[in-house]
This record gives sequence, C-alpha cells and structure tokens, in this order.
Amino acid sequence: MFNSKPVLISGIKPTGDLHIGNYFGAMRQQVDLFRSGKYQCLIFVADYHALNTMQDAEEMRRRTRELVMAYLAIGLDPNEVILFKQSDVPAHTELCWIFDTITTMPYLMRAHAFKDAEAKNKEISVGTFNYPLLMAADILLYDAKIVPVGQDQKQHIEYARDTAEKFNRTFKSEIFTLPESYIMPDVAIVPGTDGQKMSKSYGNVIPLFASHEELTACVMGIVTDSSGDRPENVYQIHKLVRSADELDPLYEEHRGKYKVLKELLIEDLDHYLAPMRAKYEELKKDPSIMDDILAKGKTAARAMSEAKMEQVRTAIGVA
Ligand code: ADP
Ligand code: TRP
Repeated sequence: MFNSKPVLISGIKPTGDLHIGNYFGAMRQQVDLFRSGKYQCLIFVADYHALNTMQDAEEMRRRTRELVMAYLAIGLDPNEVILFKQSDVPAHTELCWIFDTITTMPYLMRAHAFKDAEAKNKEISVGTFNYPLLMAADILLYDAKIVPVGQDQKQHIEYARDTAEKFNRTFKSEIFTLPESYIMPDVAIVPGTDGQKMSKSYGNVIPLFASHEELTACVMGIVTDSSGDRPENVYQIHKLVRSADELDPLYEEHRGKYKVLKELLIEDLDHYLAPMRAKYEELKKDPSIMDDILAKGKTAARAMSEAKMEQVRTAIGVA
C-alpha cells in the first residue's frame, strides 16, 4: 500500500443522481487521472460532508452504494486505487477537531461558501461552517500532494495548505505536507435538454445509466429551435459521443429533419453508454461486491491514517 508515487486524493459527495454532464464534465477526467499510473490514488465517498445537506439514512446508504457502483461502472479499477468511505476512517473527524483548535472563526468566515450563505441570510450549520477543516483533514492525513478538483474547490485546497502550515508552526513539526490543487482542464459545459447547463437542479438531465427507453424520452424532449437548419441542442450533445467530422455530413444530409437527427442521437448515445450501463446493472445485482471493496479500502485507509495520527498525537502531547 505504501509506495513512492505522489499521493492523489479525491473526495466525492454522494448527493446527486449522476447525469452525462457529470460524466463528460468531471468523472471521465478523474478516472483517466487515476489510471495514468503516475499517482498512488485514494478516492473516497465524502459522506460526512454530505451529511450537512442530506439527512436521511436510507438515502445516504443508497446514494453511497450508487456512487461506488457508478465509478466502478465507468472504469475505476478497485485494485489500483484505495476506495473507501470517509465515515469508515475516524481519523478524519479526529484530525478535524484538532484543526478546529488552531483555527480562528474570522479565518473560516472568509470562505466563499460561508459568505454566500451569509449573503443569502441562510442559517448555516456548524458543520457547513467547518466544512473546509474536515476537507483539510481528508487531504492532510494521507500526505496528499495532488488534489484534482473543479475551480469552485480551489479555495478549499488553500485552506488545507494554510492549516498544514499553521499546525507545523504551532507544534514545531514537519508533519504535514502541503497539497496542491490540480484544476481539471476546462471542459465544455454540457447542455441539458433545454439548452441551459445540464444540472440536477434544472430537471434537464440525461441520466448516465438511462435505459434505451429513458434515453429516447429524454432526447425526444430536447428543445429545438425551429429557426435554424441545425438543431444546436441536439448537435452539442451528439458531439460528446461522435466527432464533428462524422457528424457534420450527417447533419447536412438531414438538414431540418429534427426527428431523424434525434433518432440518430439516441442510437449513438445508447451505443456509447451501453457498456457502462451493463456494468452498472451487473454490479447492482450483487451489492456484496461494493461492500467488499469498501471493506478493503477501509483497512488500507485506516492503516495510512493511523500512522499519521500517531505522529500528530505525539506532536500535540496527548500521546
Ligand atoms: P449538478 O449541476 O447536477 O448539481 P454537481 O454540481 O453535483 O452537478 O457536479 C458535479 C461535477 O460534475 C462537477 O465537477 C461539475 O463540474 C460537473 N458537471 C456537472 N454538470 C455539468 C455540466 N452540465 N457540464 C460539465 N460539467 C458538469
Ligand atoms: N468539497 C468537495 C466537493 O464538493 C468534496 C470533498 C470533500 C473533497 N473532501 C475532499 C475533494 C477532499 C477532494 C479532497 O466536490
């Protein structure tokens, strides 16, 4: 488990029904990174982070399992990464508490997420306020060097760096390594069936594991603009699964025939997604596969984090 490659860590909240926007916009690039062989990879379900907004036990269990199945279905190899649940490794919350004691309130009040909530007059929970420190613990426990995230998470990585420095300074130690964010290359925004950004909050998604029937319903529902020759909303989604070189002549040949073009999109999408969907359906039949993978991940993550916690406890004088 311990090797000399730099550690890469990625945490994912189990909060959404996955759609093709998530896949083409983030998940595919993540899995490519995991597979690159350049890093020792840890990936975990950030269930304690999700608890801030998802407070239903059945939903938590179901979505956690679905997230693990989804990553396996899109090609994550559980033998090459350590895949675990945040809540299975108590060191995350333990270290978060230690960080609480060296962090000031004004510093955490500068977080974008906190400021946004304040601006909207939302009553913010202590857990949400503290979100950056739990995330710092997630990262620093494993000496992670690389943290692949979207632009919106960049500030959280800075919090982790600052917290590592603060701890090292306060306890005159060199225990924590400073992580770096790896901002995933800007990928095109995937449009939804109404032409806006595809998002679970807009009800305009094409589910990643949709059946042929569901795909048909979604694609037939794509809003088309009757003024142009090319139905742009159809074309932009089509481009994700087939090259423009191949598509352009087809769209030229079927100019103005939106139904035909939508039918072509259904078949191409189905062809592209079918192997992942089949894997997902296969995994669904046997939840013990996910349980076994998470159990293995838990053992490995606990071993790594315990080694770090022993140093931490010694440095702060509780051991
Ligand atoms: P949603 O907008 O459905 O709530 P999330 O915010 O949970 O999606 O997104 C999770 C990840 O998927 C993010 O990294 C985000 O960048 C990516 N993503 C979501 N929707 C799209 C989209 N329409 N196009 C490109 N990437 C997307
Ligand atoms: N905050 C991240 C998000 O919303 C999820 C996350 C939690 C995370 N802990 C992490 C990501 C540690 C990377 C590393 O997407």
